[in-house]
Amino acid sequence: SESNSESRGALIVLEGLDRSGKTSQSSSLLKYLEGLGHSAELWRFPDRSTDVGQMISSYLTNKSQLDDHTVHILFSANRWEKRSLMETKLKSGTTLIVDRYSFSGVAFSSAKGLGIEWCKAPEVGLLAPDLVLYLDIQPEKAAERAGYGGERYEQLEFQRKVAQCYEVLCDASWKIIDACQPMEDIEKQLQEIVLDCVTICQKGKPLSNLWS
Ligand code: TYD
Repeated sequence: SESNSESRGALIVLEGLDRSGKTSQSSSLLKYLEGLGHSAELWRFPDRSTDVGQMISSYLTNKSQLDDHTVHILFSANRWEKRSLMETKLKSGTTLIVDRYSFSGVAFSSAKGLGIEWCKAPEVGLLAPDLVLYLDIQPEKAAERAGYGGERYEQLEFQRKVAQCYEVLCDASWKIIDACQPMEDIEKQLQEIVLDCVTICQKGKPLSNLWS
């Protein structure tokens, strides 16, 4: 109703352990929103298509070794190189469904022992999500799923630590979804939450920055 409020797309982030189902749920959400006639895109971090993303990818597949601090900053740089495009898309009315974001950055690096405040620092000033959906799964359950163990971080002990770090990062605004439910149940829950969020952003909820 305010005269200066501008309709925009929503920034929706999915987080969770490896094999928690984020990727399938992200594509399902995209189809759902498009089916309703919304403009929407699926993004993911790391974005392996850029030069920085290539460095990250070769690290994750154990083709190169990098110091933990260095990798952390590369993951962050990989988000910074997309920030302005992200803002343009949102302002033009496109909703972005983002598979992993700054919370992965902080959770995975702090699981290695880096300080949480140090990990958060390079994320400050990136766009704050309008919604964080956390697909909650026990590390043991995730490890039983197909395809587990292919990359550097897909080790049970390490994923246990990541889960603890997510718990520290999580705040009351996060929507926690039980990732062990049947897929269709998860889809329905996500759709309802996401539609609410998209509607609020259409009504002109202002964009804000991390980390606040
Ligand atoms: P992703 O490409 O989502 O993995 P996959 O498609 O193989 O499931 O992410 C790769 C790994 O990178 C994942 O284990 C999480 C980790 N990660 C970080 O450590 N920091 C970050 O900032 C991000 C976005 C991901």
